[in-house]
Amino acid sequence: MSLRQMRPPAIQVIVARTDEELCAWGLHCFVETLQQRPDAVISLTTGRTTAGLYRTVREWHARGQTNLSPARFVSSEEYAGIGADDPISLFGWLRHEVLDPLGVSVYSAIRMSGNAADLGNECRRFDATIEQMGGVDLVIQSIGANGHFGFNEPGATRDAPSRVVTLAPSTVRSNAAYWPPDIQVPTRGLTMGVDATLRARHILLLAAGATKAEAIARAVQGPIDEDAPCSLLRLAPRLTIIADEAAAARLDGAGSWHT
Ligand code: PGA
Repeated sequence: MSLRQMRPPAIQVIVARTDEELCAWGLHCFVETLQQRPDAVISLTTGRTTAGLYRTVREWHARGQTNLSPARFVSSEEYAGIGADDPISLFGWLRHEVLDPLGVSVYSAIRMSGNAADLGNECRRFDATIEQMGGVDLVIQSIGANGHFGFNEPGATRDAPSRVVTLAPSTVRSNAAYWPPDIQVPTRGLTMGVDATLRARHILLLAAGATKAEAIARAVQGPIDEDAPCSLLRLAPRLTIIADEAAAARLDGAGSWHT
């Protein structure tokens, strides 16, 4: 495992040699946030990359009897037209993987309802709720092969609010891999915006696998622009990127990222 400070202390890139290391570093950020503030607001995303971290968090919680009831959790994306009880609901996935095992009440979680009557209004309500809570302490995100985070697809602006978006075809294809072939994955989603994400006190961005290598190189070393939304995360007060070796392979001087 190695850690290199790019613009101390604001941006750290950690290259993990194994999945276990990646998850251990992620858990470190999660626990550090709660130690600093037991009633922290923590935003969670879904997907294969974060599933390992959530397993590690579950194991940590089971060992430690930590009382998480003061903490507040945010679900940062949902599919448009999908209710929380639908089998493909992203909130349902989060409940199963992390919220229920941690004993977090479903009623205390902050989320956008994918089947709200007025989705635009639902996104505005979500942003207003986050603002009322004083913003997010820790955003946990993963990177898409096209450089997206959440459903902030290429073209998302720095000040983009939470909103309804049309998913990139590559995102729909990637998401479809979770489900049996007969399940039609929605092509629109609701996402926490770039603006609310950048206001977070700490962003943790995870990346695993060779398909993320180009996106990570652009996020870390490319220009900060809307074509690669993850590059915008460098504008946040504090960014920690944890990548496995395959995802870090295209970073310039990749060898030097290891100590
Ligand atoms: P993944 O999704 O963790 O399933 O690769 C990340 C993303 O595309 O945002």
